[in-house]
Amino acid sequence: MIQAVETNHDAGDVATAAGHGAGATSRTIHVRVLRQDAPGQESYWERHAIPYEPNMNVISILQRIAATARAEDGRSVAPVAWDCNCLEEVCGSCTMLVNGRTRMACTALVDRLLEDNSEEIELRPMSKFPVVRDLVVDRRRVFRGLERVEAWVPVDGSYDHGPGPRISPEDQEDAYPLSTCMSCGCCLEACPQYTKIEVVQREGESAEAFDARRKAAFDRGFVGAHAISQAMLFNAHPTGRMIADERLAALTGEGGIQMCGNAQNCVAVCPKHIPLTRSIARAGRAATVWAIKKLFDR
Ligand code: SF4
Ligand code: SF4
Ligand code: FES
Repeated sequence: MIQAVETNHDAGDVATAAGHGAGATSRTIHVRVLRQDAPGQESYWERHAIPYEPNMNVISILQRIAATARAEDGRSVAPVAWDCNCLEEVCGSCTMLVNGRTRMACTALVDRLLEDNSEEIELRPMSKFPVVRDLVVDRRRVFRGLERVEAWVPVDGSYDHGPGPRISPEDQEDAYPLSTCMSCGCCLEACPQYTKIEVVQREGESAEAFDARRKAAFDRGFVGAHAISQAMLFNAHPTGRMIADERLAALTGEGGIQMCGNAQNCVAVCPKHIPLTRSIARAGRAATVWAIKKLFDR
C-alpha cells in the first residue's frame, strides 16, 4: 500500500496525495536505471518515478517499476529485469551497482540511500560481467573460479564415510567467516585486476566448443579473491586438504595469486566482511612454500 508521508525534502518532490485526505503529502523517488535489451546491445538510461514508502529496499523499487512498466515520461516500457532470490543477503544473486557502489540490492535500504542523495537512486549492472538483460549479468566466471581451485571437499561416493575428523573450536572460528561467501561477486567487481571477459559464440560454433573456448578465456584471467579465499578454507579442512596441492597448483598458475596487486578493494566491499586480505596473504605464503617444495622434489 502506498502511504502518504510528511517530508522536509525539496518542494519539487512533494505533491498532494490523492485519497489520503487534505494536507497529506507524498514524495516521489526518482530512479535512473541503465538498461540493455540483450547481450552485446547498446545500453541506455531510463528514468522512473515511484511514490515513496518507508522501509523499502532496492528490490521493492524494482518491483514497483515492474508493476507500472512506465518510464517517468509516461511511456510504456518493458519491465526492468533483475536477479534476486533469498532477499536476506544469503544467495548472492542480487548484486548491482547502487549509486555507483557494488552491493546487494536486497539490503540496500532506500531511506539510507535517500539520506546520501535525496534527488535520485542510480542502478547499474555490474561492469565486470557480460550483461544478459538490464541488471542481470552472466556470473558464470565467478563459479568457474571456484572450479579452478576445486573449492569443495572431495568425496568419491555417497556411501557412509563414518564420522568426520574432529575440528577444534579455534579452527571452526577461523574457518566460519570464509564459509559465508555467497559468490556475489562484489569483491570481483571492485578488483582492479579482475577485468571483464565477454566471449561471443561464433556463427556455426557448437555449444560445447563455445563453452570450452569461454572456459579457456576465463582460465587465463585472474581467478579472483573469492576463489583464493575458498581455496584457503578447503585447504584448512582436514578432508579438504587431501587435494591442497592441486589448489595451490591452480593458485600459482596462469591468472593465479601473483596477479593480485594487494589493492584491498575486495575486502572493503565484501558484504559478508570476509577477511579476504588475510586469505590472500595465507595463500601467498602457502604458494611460496609449495613452489619451493616442488623445486626440491624434482
Ligand atoms: S587485494 Fe587482490 S584480489 Fe583484492 S582487490 Fe586488490 S588485487 Fe583484487
Ligand atoms: S568474498 Fe565476499 S564479496 Fe566476494 S563473492 Fe564472497 S561474499 Fe561476495
Ligand atoms: S536476494 Fe539473495 S542476496 Fe540479495
